[in-house]
Amino acid sequence: MVDDDTARQVRVDTLRQALTPGNVVIVGARDSSATSAGVIEGLERTGFTGDIAVVNRSGLAAHGRAAYRSCADIGRPMDAAVVLTPAAAVLAVLDDLAAAHIRTAVVLSGGWAETGADGRAAQDGVAARARRLGITLIGPNCLGFINFAARTGAWVANVPADWRTGPVAIVSQSGGIGNAMMDLAGEWGVGLSHVVTTGNEALVSTTDVLEYLGEDESTSAIAVFCEAIRHPERFARAATRAVEHGKAIVMLKAGSSPAAARNAVTHTGSMVGNDAVVTAALRRLGVVRVDSLEELVATAALLGGIRPLRAPGVAVVSISGGSVDIVADEAERAGLRLPAFDETATASLREILPPFASVRNPLDITGGAIGEEFAGVLAVIDKQDDVGLIVVLCNVPASPSCKDASLDRLLATVASGLQGAATPGLLVAQTIGHALRYGQCAVERAGIRHLLPGLSLGVAVVKHAVDWSTRVHGLDRRGPWSPALDKPPDPRLLGFLSQDGGGALSEWTARQMLAAVDVPFLPAELVRSEVEAVDSARRCDGAAAVKLVSPDVVHKTDVGAVRLDVRGDDAVRAAYRAVVAAAGPGARVEGAIVAPMRSGGVEILVGVTRDDDWGPVLAVGLGGVLTEAFRDVAYRVLPVDRADVAEMLDEIAGAALLAGARGRPAVDRVALVDAIVAVADAAGRLGSRLESLEVNPLRVDHDGAEALDAVVVLRSEVVR
Ligand SMILES: Nc1ncnc2c1ncn2[C@@H]1O[C@H](COP(=O)(O)OP(=O)(O)OP(=O)(O)O)[C@@H](O)[C@H]1O
Ligand SMILES: [Mg+2]
Repeated sequence: MVDDDTARQVRVDTLRQALTPGNVVIVGARDSSATSAGVIEGLERTGFTGDIAVVNRSGLAAHGRAAYRSCADIGRPMDAAVVLTPAAAVLAVLDDLAAAHIRTAVVLSGGWAETGADGRAAQDGVAARARRLGITLIGPNCLGFINFAARTGAWVANVPADWRTGPVAIVSQSGGIGNAMMDLAGEWGVGLSHVVTTGNEALVSTTDVLEYLGEDESTSAIAVFCEAIRHPERFARAATRAVEHGKAIVMLKAGSSPAAARNAVTHTGSMVGNDAVVTAALRRLGVVRVDSLEELVATAALLGGIRPLRAPGVAVVSISGGSVDIVADEAERAGLRLPAFDETATASLREILPPFASVRNPLDITGGAIGEEFAGVLAVIDKQDDVGLIVVLCNVPASPSCKDASLDRLLATVASGLQGAATPGLLVAQTIGHALRYGQCAVERAGIRHLLPGLSLGVAVVKHAVDWSTRVHGLDRRGPWSPALDKPPDPRLLGFLSQDGGGALSEWTARQMLAAVDVPFLPAELVRSEVEAVDSARRCDGAAAVKLVSPDVVHKTDVGAVRLDVRGDDAVRAAYRAVVAAAGPGARVEGAIVAPMRSGGVEILVGVTRDDDWGPVLAVGLGGVLTEAFRDVAYRVLPVDRADVAEMLDEIAGAALLAGARGRPAVDRVALVDAIVAVADAAGRLGSRLESLEVNPLRVDHDGAEALDAVVVLRSEVVR
């Protein structure tokens, strides 16, 4: 099926209009229905002042309003319809909406694509009808939307009484999750611009909403919950534009599929799960990926209210030694950097603090230093160049019964200290319970802008803020990125093929193909007889490696088709015989590779495999035969540049080996990065023909990098 990307796209101005209805009709409203009553109550709570009409087949009044039998009967213009009828009636309702010139429909009912092939067909039918009638259909299987900024909506669930407007937009494929996020935002005093639930996304997708919010002036952070990212290329464009407009995007993506679920020929293919790919792509786009709904709401709330931090270091200050200890542990686990204070700062802090206080970051200023000393401490920290954020851990009243004058004084002291600092600061409550509505209000009254809920969540959110800042600064310096999906293959590479079919190439063909686009290989020769093998091995200067060349044997060691450290003519002859015999009956044998033996250095795996959604994905890990056991691998979606590859090398846990461990010299990092970029580039050039490509190992030492082995697996045709 050809899925026409552009035809699916709902334009930003269309969506803006759809999400700002001036008046709303409820189709399928019944007096006895709590659902339709809820829609009206929700609109009222949102501050909606427009016209609300009710329509049902019986024409019986509902919720104190006279009902119409059809939208066409209403006789005055309406903008949006909340469609509460069962799935089977939706097509007819769409016709009725069109007759009444109503351009927006929120469809609540379930029973569509989520139920199987028949449901999928029905859903496609509804989408096609809506598109033909010029109706912007939201859902089906969703709860609709609220536009808090414009005080309107078409929403089929509760609206918290104490919602407030603010810069955070919530987008959720799941209605229930969107609803829960909104409730939590209400509890935490997080101001919202929109809640949009997209359900089955027959027409309006998360990407469409992201595109709209990226340009929306009332929004500065977008909290997204989704199960699938459809159309990654468009998603990448929308995310890039939103980030360019200064919006922070935070995402919880569910439905992570385990690695190795697919049938993969190369090591890379079996290691790369879709989840790692999504993480890598989101990272490259500057989208913050989180692990829980709490993290999603709290992170969006913070990023919606701050600018990217100028430095990645965080200073933590508290009067509670226990909190400091917990945060020290959490920061360590999360990889949050708490840089030590410099000498001058340390000396100044010693002067301010009581003699028994230990001066370090995180800093316990002790209960004795909460007066003027506190402002003094912050003033010192404020001057630390590597600190981009000051985090104060502080007691917050959880309820009226916790309130006392000393707590108020403490908050006032913290507030004036933070206000006096040029470095942005925030407060972290000790538990989530201390950051609910009551505590939130107390902190706000004191004049503190950000309160994070609990020490663990607080550290996670602060870490996200630091990573986001680093990435946003990085993105500013780099061009826009979108995945390298199905480019046409470069004829130069295909010239090495003898036929059009798919499948694995022999190592010899793979090596010629990759060498032609600057992947560095160790010198080697293809030999076709014992005599040629001996002749070649004599040129190897000492010991040789002898390996089978066959497109039918991808993993040669497994079947005894690799002989290493072969010395002497007799041994070479025996090795040649053995590796060729190892091919087994029926395997095509092109001969054997004879290459000089290498020793020392570090072996790296560089592989590219294809993800169904995102296209080619690069994996880099510590290599050789142990790669799969270690699983110490970094991923990026192609295309990559040298900066991406350098970042990947820093990510792998075994990176210490590259810097020269145990008296070994550091490896030639420039050559390594060049070689990896060359492999990625080769994969990109194979375009739609690439199934997977792997150099394992790429051997690197202080003197350079060279590939010792290569596997290329092709697809026969462009599969769409
Ligand atoms: N010229 C050489 N010098 C030193 N070691 C070599 C050489 N060629 C191969 N090796 C070692 O032998 C191992 C196996 O060789 P190679 O990677 O070519 O075969 P393979 O078994 O098909 O690979 P894979 O494990 O990726 O399936 C390499 O990982 C490397 O450690
Ligand atoms: Mg190998």
